[in-house]
Amino acid sequence: MKILSIETSCDETAISLLSVVETGESVSFQVLANITHSQVELHQPYGGVFPALAKREHQKNLPLVLEEIMMGQEIPDCICVTSGPGLEPALWCGIVFAKELGEKWNIPVVPVNHMEGHILSVLVPQSGDANFEFKNSDIDFPALALLISGGHTELVLVKKIGDYQIIGKTRDDAVGEAFDKVARILGLPYPGGPEISRLAAIARQEHAFNRITFPRPMIHSADLDFSFSGIKTAVLYHVQGQTENRNVTDTVFKLSDEVKQDISREFENAVSDVLVSKTKKAVDAFGAQSLIIGGGVSANSHIKNEMKNMIENNFPDMKLLVPERELTGDNALMIGIAGYFKIKKDPTRVYSDIKAEGNLGL
Ligand code: KG4
Ligand code: ZN
Repeated sequence: MKILSIETSCDETAISLLSVVETGESVSFQVLANITHSQVELHQPYGGVFPALAKREHQKNLPLVLEEIMMGQEIPDCICVTSGPGLEPALWCGIVFAKELGEKWNIPVVPVNHMEGHILSVLVPQSGDANFEFKNSDIDFPALALLISGGHTELVLVKKIGDYQIIGKTRDDAVGEAFDKVARILGLPYPGGPEISRLAAIARQEHAFNRITFPRPMIHSADLDFSFSGIKTAVLYHVQGQTENRNVTDTVFKLSDEVKQDISREFENAVSDVLVSKTKKAVDAFGAQSLIIGGGVSANSHIKNEMKNMIENNFPDMKLLVPERELTGDNALMIGIAGYFKIKKDPTRVYSDIKAEGNLGL
């Protein structure tokens, strides 16, 4: 089966073409083409994703990316498209495009949940090899998935592929959103995650003492929920305290590189401590056999390392699955993979009324 998949939930226009062959117990995937066209530079001046601009860019780029993907390829058997969660004007671009293409080629269109895509992005091996196999025994179930992105922070119990239960989530900001907001306070470019992570690494290497302490909100709460807006506010108060002599006409705080590095380190430490602590609690509570981390923030080395240490120290037999670096952020390959499992679960189902659902849950 050949699957064309389309992802336009945020600021990446992405299409991939995947061939899937079932052989007994296992499934062989072959990535025939995979393109992610990032709009990040266009959104940078706005300090975040500007939905009307994202929509215009998706509409402009989708036909161009498709042409490149389909070069020398036959018409696929079906189209999978992200229907949510995400920015609705952006999601609609992919959905309308997929429907038109489905009619033109006379093939079915299947809606896919973006967050399921992030979970299943870990099926692609770390080598990024275009040919890979999957057997159910590759993941020990129940698995726990920690989804950390610009729009979401969720702990999901994965009983098996296609069977998900959200057991914890953020009550306010998503982790990536907190990274982006703190970056804005520090006058760093959007997206903030990679830049904060880079500065934090410098602080860890070059500054012996951590002179700042930010709170770890909800770290001891009995539930598995998160809250990140308090850390961001603590950063803002700290910065305001540091810059009392700032010129009132400045909109950006003047901070030395060293101060920015120290703040980044303590912010990253605080976020990581909370994520690790709640993940450990969830593994204990639900007897998870493997841990999946997905979403844009799963590119963060410090969080990955701390999670690895926590597992080695507490659950030495548990497998940690993280996406290959290129697939941590939004991409269409993960939508194709999630789409395949959705089709497999219910092969004859026809999806005639696909709608963009900004708040679609798992
Ligand atoms: O999954 P994603 O590409 O888009 C959404 O679905 O939201 O995630 C984007 C988020 C942004 O907030 C970005 O700042 C964050 O992921 N991010 C990181 C890193 N790389 C990207 N956060 C922390 N550390 C990173 N290395
Ligand atoms: Zn995402």
